[in-house]
Amino acid sequence: MKKEMLLILPLYVLQFVDMVTGDCDTAPAVREAFHNGSITGPYSEGVVLRYMCKQAYDLIPGGSIYYKCSNGIWTGGNISCSLGRCTDIESPQNSYIVGQAGYYVGETTTFSCLEGYEMNGNGLIMCMSDRTWSPEPPTCVKVRCPEFSTPDAQIFQEFTGVQNEFGSKNKITCESGTFLQGPQYITCLANKTWSGSPSCTIPNCGNPPASYEPCTDVFYTDGHTNFGSQVEVICHENATSIGTSQFLICSVTGTWSNEYHCLCSCIGDCGGSVYTGPRNVKHDTQIDCPCPDGSHFKRKCSNGSLTNVSSCPVTYSTTTLQVQSPTTTLHVTHPKTTLHVTHPKTTLLVPHPTTLLVTHPTTTLLVTHPKTTLLVIHPTMPPAYPHYVLIAVVVSCVVVFTIIALFFFYFRSCKNRRAQLRIRCKVCCQDKISNTSITPEKKETTLISLDYQ
Ligand SMILES: *[C@@H]1O[C@H](CO)[C@@H](O)[C@H](O)[C@H]1NC(C)=O
Ligand SMILES: *[C@@H]1O[C@H](CO)[C@@H](O)[C@H](O)[C@H]1NC(C)=O
Ligand SMILES: *[C@@H]1O[C@H](CO)[C@@H](O)[C@H](O)[C@H]1NC(C)=O
Ligand SMILES: *[C@@H]1O[C@H](CO)[C@@H](O)[C@H](O)[C@H]1NC(C)=O
Ligand SMILES: *[C@@H]1O[C@H](CO)[C@@H](O)[C@H](O)[C@H]1NC(C)=O
Ligand SMILES: *[C@@H]1O[C@H](CO)[C@@H](O)[C@H](O)[C@H]1NC(C)=O
Repeated sequence: MKKEMLLILPLYVLQFVDMVTGDCDTAPAVREAFHNGSITGPYSEGVVLRYMCKQAYDLIPGGSIYYKCSNGIWTGGNISCSLGRCTDIESPQNSYIVGQAGYYVGETTTFSCLEGYEMNGNGLIMCMSDRTWSPEPPTCVKVRCPEFSTPDAQIFQEFTGVQNEFGSKNKITCESGTFLQGPQYITCLANKTWSGSPSCTIPNCGNPPASYEPCTDVFYTDGHTNFGSQVEVICHENATSIGTSQFLICSVTGTWSNEYHCLCSCIGDCGGSVYTGPRNVKHDTQIDCPCPDGSHFKRKCSNGSLTNVSSCPVTYSTTTLQVQSPTTTLHVTHPKTTLHVTHPKTTLLVPHPTTLLVTHPTTTLLVTHPKTTLLVIHPTMPPAYPHYVLIAVVVSCVVVFTIIALFFFYFRSCKNRRAQLRIRCKVCCQDKISNTSITPEKKETTLISLDYQ
């Protein structure tokens, strides 16, 4: 506590000294103002300071500008300064203020001209520190359109309002023999253009559309296609005309008075099959053409080309398929196929017509749609020979083998008994050999060999 007291003490001492001596240490600080004394103190007793606002600021009236140092404090003065303001401003004629106007020193105000007026001067003005606006506010003047003119000279103009000024109107009149194309009145617009571009011309209809079509002739009666000209449209022989009058007149608007066209005839033709009718076929007429089955289909002539209006009847071919395997699978690829299954014992396991499992071996399928493709898959082929053939072969082999074996054993027993039963055996053996249908020569050979042993 005592240390703090020691720190603050000099201040109290200074103030006490001031009060005794009457000097002021610093001048009062006033915002945006300055005084005529020295910038830093101390200021001695009795000194008077005169305060003034800085350049862009104004003294708020009612305060005193003099501050006097008296017994160490300033007395008498009371001033405050506020930012300077320029005079109120009216927007110039035919203009308006854009956004917020700024009236204080350093602020700006922006003007814009009304539609149809253009600005002379600067649209942006500023309140200067001398409380005046700079630059001068602008002025807005009506725009002017350029003189209206057309390439052709036969145009007359009457003006309403100030000639060529924004909003003024021109009435256009054409010299006799020429005709106005476009609006009769034009107005000068804000963007310095005229509202239209009328002209005075001699109307020309150009060639009528029929002149570009086949089997048509166009005659230009007076050689040109200007307003009032006449042309005649003539259809070729056998062509059909459409339209009310073949005479066309060019109207003031530059268009032909009516339309007239020719629809061409056709050369009779059946497009492949033989045609025997008249050579020339008029528009919208039908001809008969032969079909392979003796009937006819029709063709029609339409503006020069023949087209089918009916066709020959479709003929369906019939395919008969004999199914032999009991597990044949039929894949029928056309959805409109009709299957006629003729065997009563057939069972169709798959009801959908595209895949059929036919279980009876002798089923006959009659497929009536021409686009059908039949893919027949035989999953297992039956054996090449019936079972009884195999059995017969095996049985006959066994029989042959048995006969050979019996013969061999009999021959061995003959050999064992050859001493005592030579003659008998010879006879006996001779009998057996003849049974196996061996030729006499062979029989002898066999016997010789037996004797030797
Ligand atoms: C400031 O101006 C006032 C009046 O004009 C004058 O009385 C005063 O002595 C001046 N003070 C100084 C420090 O010059
Ligand atoms: C200082 O002047 C203002 C007006 O500018 C006034 O309202 C205020 O009371 C004055 N103060 C003193 C202390 O005179
Ligand atoms: C002038 O103004 C009119 C109407 O506002 C407009 O149709 C026309 O295109 C403008 N012309 C030009 C050159 O900007
Ligand atoms: C007739 O056909 C021709 C082309 O061959 C075409 O220029 C013309 O406009 C057609 N006529 C009609 C009335 O359709
Ligand atoms: C017009 O049709 C008739 C009868 O079919 C025919 O004799 C004649 O040659 C056709 N004319 C032309 C120009 O085709
Ligand atoms: C017209 O129909 C016939 C018979 O049906 C046929 O042969 C011929 O291809 C078809 N021609 C055309 C262009 O369709």
